Amino acid sequence: MQITIIGTGYVGLVTGTCFAETGNNVVCVDINEEKVKQLRAGKSPIYEPGLDTLLERNIKEQRIRFTTSITEGVEHGQIIFLALPTPPGKDGSADLQFVLDVASQLSTIITDYKVIVNKSTVPVGTAEKVANVLALNLDRSLFDVVSNPEFLREGVAVEDFLKPDRVVIGTNSERARKLMDELYQPFVRQGNPIFYMDERSSEMTKYAGNAYLAMRISFMNEMANLCEKVGANVDMVRVGIGSDSRIGKRFLFPGVGYGGSCFPKDVKALAQTATEYDYDFQIVRTVMKVNDRQKTILGKKICEYYGSDLSGKTFALWGLAFKPETDDIREAPALELIDELLKAGATVSAFDPEAMDNVRRIYGEKVHFAESMYAALEGASGLVIVTEWSEFRNPDFDRISDALVHPAIFDGRNVYSLEKMEELGFYYESMGRKT
Ligand code: UGA
Repeated sequence: MQITIIGTGYVGLVTGTCFAETGNNVVCVDINEEKVKQLRAGKSPIYEPGLDTLLERNIKEQRIRFTTSITEGVEHGQIIFLALPTPPGKDGSADLQFVLDVASQLSTIITDYKVIVNKSTVPVGTAEKVANVLALNLDRSLFDVVSNPEFLREGVAVEDFLKPDRVVIGTNSERARKLMDELYQPFVRQGNPIFYMDERSSEMTKYAGNAYLAMRISFMNEMANLCEKVGANVDMVRVGIGSDSRIGKRFLFPGVGYGGSCFPKDVKALAQTATEYDYDFQIVRTVMKVNDRQKTILGKKICEYYGSDLSGKTFALWGLAFKPETDDIREAPALELIDELLKAGATVSAFDPEAMDNVRRIYGEKVHFAESMYAALEGASGLVIVTEWSEFRNPDFDRISDALVHPAIFDGRNVYSLEKMEELGFYYESMGRKT
């Protein structure tokens, strides 16, 4: 099929590349010339496992190409995906400026029937808004607007796209439905469902999914805080409840709060939608508060142990990205912790396998960036683990204790076992597990 993707951010690029991988002919449009140049050379501007290989292969096979020309994109695609930024506006609601601007441009270029797909996470009612903008210049018989939210996790986005748990398609048009069905069939061959629904339900499904997961994490974070007080081990509680099939094992890991480009933004936007419709969505508002507090907990633990004046002390920080397998630091708990440590007078020596360049752009010289996880430890008063990269899971503990001035580990992700830490003689604090 002839597919066009407008916007080559993380969602657009993964979507375009995966559609090319299933044999479609894809054109990706972006206004950023530098990015387009880089993509033409087969280089992905984001770190996403597996993406580079697919990109290279599909460029070579001429199934995907990149352009800055929206006209070229529109002429090419029977289905046009909008994968544009929807940053939070001042009131927390998603800013639709980019989506509606592009819709307006499309309305002056389209000459034959197209399916326009909202792939970006957009508030309820956006499909209608896009349709109204298109209809200013176009006959309604020339287009359908479909909502098709993405459920990709950064770090496993390619896998999530190629083997989705489900595909959600919001449209009341039979014609659009047929085309979308044909496009997605190769991805659901193992029998996973495609759910067809109206546009509003589809738009809401995306927010409901992310807000529910954020709530689940926040619940476990609060549970961890309480477990510490009552002397229970949250990891035991986690497996205890996770084996109930009504609850399930995934997404119950307590930590230093959720981050990333999606959960914080989407939870906020859902609360804002509720406000607009005069509904007080109390759980969602509380989730935001709980998460803000959770991001400060590791810093508090450190100050409780060393005192609130940390001047003269260095802390080694392992992990800066908001989660492993990404270089994304948006809303990353590590940033909040760096701010707290610096404010208390400490020196921060950080290491992350992928995200250091991004953090350097914010902090410059204020943070020391180490060449390796072990180099970060030299002369530090303690090791703080913020992101659970695999390489931190089974380190050389002798090297850790030799390098640290004081053998203390503050583990924001429960990476190590309590028994091991006791056996090795570390002062060890983790989340929801009393030592
Ligand atoms: C999330 C959703 O999982 C995707 O389904 C969705 O498509 C995506 O947002 C989006 O809207 O684009 P992502 O932000 O990539 O994906 O990351 P997750 O793997 O969901 O992790 C989010 C945050 O929750 C991370 O900070 C992670 O550390 C935290 N988390 C996750 C926990 O603290 N505990 C857990 O048990 C799981």
